[in-house]
Amino acid sequence: MAVSRLMPRVLFPVFLSVALAMATGPVAAARGRLIHLHFFMHDITGGPGQTAVQVVKGPGPAHPAMPGSHFGDTTVIDDALTEGAGASSRLVGRAQGTYMLASLSEPALVVSMTVVLTAGAYNGSTVAVAGRDDVSASVRELAVVGGTGAFRRATGHVLWRTARMESRDHMVLELDVYATVPGASPAPPPRAGVARQVA
Ligand SMILES: *[C@@H]1O[C@H](CO)[C@@H](O)[C@H](O)[C@H]1NC(C)=O
Repeated sequence: MAVSRLMPRVLFPVFLSVALAMATGPVAAARGRLIHLHFFMHDITGGPGQTAVQVVKGPGPAHPAMPGSHFGDTTVIDDALTEGAGASSRLVGRAQGTYMLASLSEPALVVSMTVVLTAGAYNGSTVAVAGRDDVSASVRELAVVGGTGAFRRATGHVLWRTARMESRDHMVLELDVYATVPGASPAPPPRAGVARQVA
């Protein structure tokens, strides 16, 4: 992994804790802990290794912005999450849930999914993600609405980008999850920073 890709993730929590401490003092800094996760999601809608299956076919009319699709089309997913963009990159979890074409006119999906982490410092924890995915936007923002394990009572947001198309049926998405979890103890010092334990 290139140093330039790693740097912002390592530095960000340091900046954040300094900014929090300056703005509101140590009480606010102790109130929550930011966890940043970065990974790629493989949405494979057909062919070998399919992980996304359409379970509802909207009865129509045809969607004006998405040829071949219909309002209400719903897909269930169990997409692999990997550390790097390649399909053979280290598996760090799964994204399990659904997306539904929920706009009559725009290419916008409503997403509801659980990120299940299966490796790294947060192995066994989950993050609940919900929100709107306008596939025509370069960056989409969804909400972190909760979680389990290390992510109990998490709040935050997810930045979601289409990284590349491996094939017609295999879309690779890049996700940055910024979750704040309540913490009774102050944030760990930078050398034990959570950003380096990215799943
Ligand atoms: C994740 O946790 C499970 C259950 O404890 C364990 O079986 C598995 O080996 C762990 N995976 C990694 C990559 O640490």
